[in-house]
Amino acid sequence: MTIDFSLSDYLKTRKAMIDHALEAYMPKEDARPPVLVKAMRYSLFAGGKRIRPILCLAAAEAAGGQISDVLPTACALEMIHTYSLIHDDLPAMDNDDLRRGRPTNHKVFGDAVAILAGDALLTEAFHLIAGRAGNLQTAPLNLLAVIRDIACAAGHDGMVGGQAVDILSEGAAGDAGTLHYIHTRKTAALIRAAVTSGACIAGAGREALSALEAYGDHIGLAFQIADDILNVEGSKEALGKNTGSDASHGKLTYPALMGLEASRNKLSTLVACALSDIEGFDGRAVPLREMAKYIMERKS
Ligand code: IPE
Ligand code: IPE
Ligand code: MG
Ligand code: MG
Repeated sequence: MTIDFSLSDYLKTRKAMIDHALEAYMPKEDARPPVLVKAMRYSLFAGGKRIRPILCLAAAEAAGGQISDVLPTACALEMIHTYSLIHDDLPAMDNDDLRRGRPTNHKVFGDAVAILAGDALLTEAFHLIAGRAGNLQTAPLNLLAVIRDIACAAGHDGMVGGQAVDILSEGAAGDAGTLHYIHTRKTAALIRAAVTSGACIAGAGREALSALEAYGDHIGLAFQIADDILNVEGSKEALGKNTGSDASHGKLTYPALMGLEASRNKLSTLVACALSDIEGFDGRAVPLREMAKYIMERKS
């Protein structure tokens, strides 16, 4: 990896690679039942940043693996993330009407189809990882570990658990422990699993995996703190979603609990920790290093 690595070029090419693979794995527009498939595709191809699949590819690269072996799992992570956004926006959850620069899924397809589109993306994700697309060149035990880690990150002690406490804490006084519980689960868990699954498929050893686990935890929490900060001071146009909604819903966030400046300090400390976690990696970890800094500086 040379020192003139351009993160924006890297993100652009990796995003194109993910979009191309997702198109190959997803049912086509004319598949049955048409409204369900349209709803799945509507949110999936609405132009997300693809951070989780890109992290999965970058971790595989850092661990010396082949990108082609990781692509189905990387795409599955994006399907799980997109399902979480569709459900997060529902009236019974955050009740948002704008996502990825478009009306939210339930605004277009109605609540029932939006719920089902989320369900279908979640289950299709595991179908894909388990070999639907013929990715069985990965050692079966590594694949099993990946399925276990992603299921755990998405479930009751991961994303769904974090989402539950996020909703149940609305309007409550809140404390640092609850806030940490919410953010490490609703967002950091899947981001950490994106990193570790890429490395695991690449055959990373125990030491490399535990360094990447720590890196994933740190950038995962940093990612949600940045999201909290952007909800206060970001631009709706750049983000493609509404701002100011956390405060109006009484959400328990870092800016709400500790203010903007302390939130920014926490964010930069976490990114510094993430960089130190992967100090021992060679130049193949440059994308992971640059992505950690990007998470702190992102505007969208
Ligand atoms: C938004 O995630 C939800 C959070 C977990 C903070 P992203 O900021 O990755 O959203 P997209 O995928 O780019 O739309
Ligand atoms: C994002 O939570 C976490 C998940 C969707 C799992 P938020 O509700 O904070 O994210 P945005 O701001 O709506 O994207
Ligand atoms: Mg939410
Ligand atoms: Mg939300």
